[in-house]
Amino acid sequence: MKLILYIILIIAIIAGVSSLIHLHKVSNKNKAEMAKFSNETALTANLGKTLVIYYSLSGRTKDIALQIQSLTNADIYEIKPKEEIKSGPALYLTSKKQISSGEYPEIVNDFPNIEEYNTIFVGSPIWWYTAAPVVLEFLKEFDFQNKNVVPFSTQGSNYGTFFEDFKAKAKNANILKGEAFNNLSSEYNEQVKNKIISWLNGLSE
Ligand SMILES: Cc1cc2nc3c(=O)[nH]c(=O)nc-3n(C[C@H](O)[C@H](O)[C@H](O)COP(=O)(O)O)c2cc1C
Repeated sequence: MKLILYIILIIAIIAGVSSLIHLHKVSNKNKAEMAKFSNETALTANLGKTLVIYYSLSGRTKDIALQIQSLTNADIYEIKPKEEIKSGPALYLTSKKQISSGEYPEIVNDFPNIEEYNTIFVGSPIWWYTAAPVVLEFLKEFDFQNKNVVPFSTQGSNYGTFFEDFKAKAKNANILKGEAFNNLSSEYNEQVKNKIISWLNGLSE
């Protein structure tokens, strides 16, 4: 009995130390990346009439979507699941199952009319190294009609195969360079804004 408790304790210590090392590495990586965006950057991009489509459960993707909207004077469309998605441990299991089975949650709202837009951003949180299932459902149902489409993601630290998956699933989209945003504390707000502006400027070069 004592031996089993010792083994459990050792496993817990190893898991705790590994996750601390991981967090430390991610934090150093974020710091190094954000240092590149310390200088105030002017917006020069002209992307034409722009639409930002996004899904967000806890607000991170919404925050980036709103910044893109305000910088490009875009219209905005939020993907809304028919049934409320609740965060919590069960979400990890249900979303994993949905991603593996391809049975994604239904969307409640009508699709946007994209005829009038030149550029369409599509943002998703990363769930299990890809887009959130409700965004996968949107991509399954939607046709981008040969428009310029720019994917973006927010994640803890690892966006996995999101950009490849997005490209493979976004029907008739002319995909432009996407961008990934790790969750950062508010001390990085200015750098994140500069990162968004540099990315937007690169899109219209
Ligand atoms: C079910 C689930 C799975 C997740 N999987 C990943 C992942 O594979 N990689 C990662 O870096 N972050 C992962 N995260 C963290 C989210 O991507 C991150 O918190 C995101 O910014 C949340 O966006 P939102 O606030 O717009 O919902 C996951 C979160 C949830 C709830």
